[in-house]
Amino acid sequence: MSSLIAPSILAADFANLQRDIEMVNASEADWFHIDIMDGVFVPNISFGMPVLKAISKHAKKTLDVHLMIVDPDRYIRTFAELGSNILTVHYEACTHLHRTIQAIKSEGMKAGVALNPHTNITVLEDIILDLDLVCLMSVNPGFGGQSFIENTYQKVEQLKRLITKKGASTIIEIDGGVTSTNAKQLHDAGADVLVAGSFVFKSENPSSTISELKQLTV
Ligand code: DX5
Ligand code: ZN
Repeated sequence: MSSLIAPSILAADFANLQRDIEMVNASEADWFHIDIMDGVFVPNISFGMPVLKAISKHAKKTLDVHLMIVDPDRYIRTFAELGSNILTVHYEACTHLHRTIQAIKSEGMKAGVALNPHTNITVLEDIILDLDLVCLMSVNPGFGGQSFIENTYQKVEQLKRLITKKGASTIIEIDGGVTSTNAKQLHDAGADVLVAGSFVFKSENPSSTISELKQLTV
């Protein structure tokens, strides 16, 4: 099966947001990836609830929301009400990760956990069966347009082994620096979802760039 492609709206043209959302709707993309940054957990602020509400109004595909915020428990219900289908929190931002994951599910969303590049897969041993998705950060979170960290390939393989060993049905998402040069190797290593921001939106023809990524992972 080919990887799912999730264009990251962080790299869209915010002055033409509806146009870019319609482009994704009409493209071969599978999901919308939405980055929420609070300026505390990561050294950048992206956008918040009013913008997500506007995106939600036009988006016709799965909303994959990636929270790069401290204490995400405060906003779980709000993100559900705004139409999020998948809500991903950072391992590094959650003291009571198991409780947070259950709270996300009880609001009717799929639950994901993101790991920073320095965080080892082994921390997921006792939670993997509860997770719908694991997002491996292949850049340090906070900014689009950074270079892919090569160590990610072996992390994907290690995570895949953990999922198989535990009999979990968790899917693996890769976020950061995804391009046509690493998409196939990521897919072959076991990635199910590829997030791509700059590579899609800064290209001449974003819709055909999405198709290109999809083709590479068949
Ligand atoms: C990074 C974000 C990513 C980012 C990806 O903190 O979580 O989703 O938008 O952008 P590119 O593909 O440009 O690295
Ligand atoms: Zn992201």
